[in-house]
Amino acid sequence: MSAPGVRVDELLAAARHAMERGSYAPYSNFNVGAAVLAEGEVFAGANVENASYPMSVCAERNAVAAAVNAGKRSVDAVAVVTRADEPTPPCGGCRQVLNEFGPDMTVTVESGTGERAVWRLTEILPHAFGPFNLGK
Ligand code: THU
Repeated sequence: MSAPGVRVDELLAAARHAMERGSYAPYSNFNVGAAVLAEGEVFAGANVENASYPMSVCAERNAVAAAVNAGKRSVDAVAVVTRADEPTPPCGGCRQVLNEFGPDMTVTVESGTGERAVWRLTEILPHAFGPFNLGK
């Protein structure tokens, strides 16, 4: 099994911890936690909402920012957790941000009841626009 697969439980635990501790969602009451495996290290984030609603930031984007802020530029896997009844896929904007650092990454999502779904990012963001399209 690949490294991201081996560490999926660790990623889910980090995402859940981030959600419990860091999620600020007084408007939607929809708490989300995310964790990425970036160059062998785990970075987590939670959604942070704002009274000016469009200024809110998703959990996945905060996790990616934490990794990039630490100097990482490559992500192998992301885990996303909520308290929802069903596993919740990352929003379209977050798929785009994830694609920047790991177009081939594994995406694992877990509901509040422990139900999981797993995809490749390429499956849920086909024909992505990315660095390649700008010659990078
Ligand atoms: N949210 C995330 O954190 N990640 C997603 O992929 C979907 C949505 C957040 C944004 C907002 O704070 C709340 O969930 C409801 O949309």
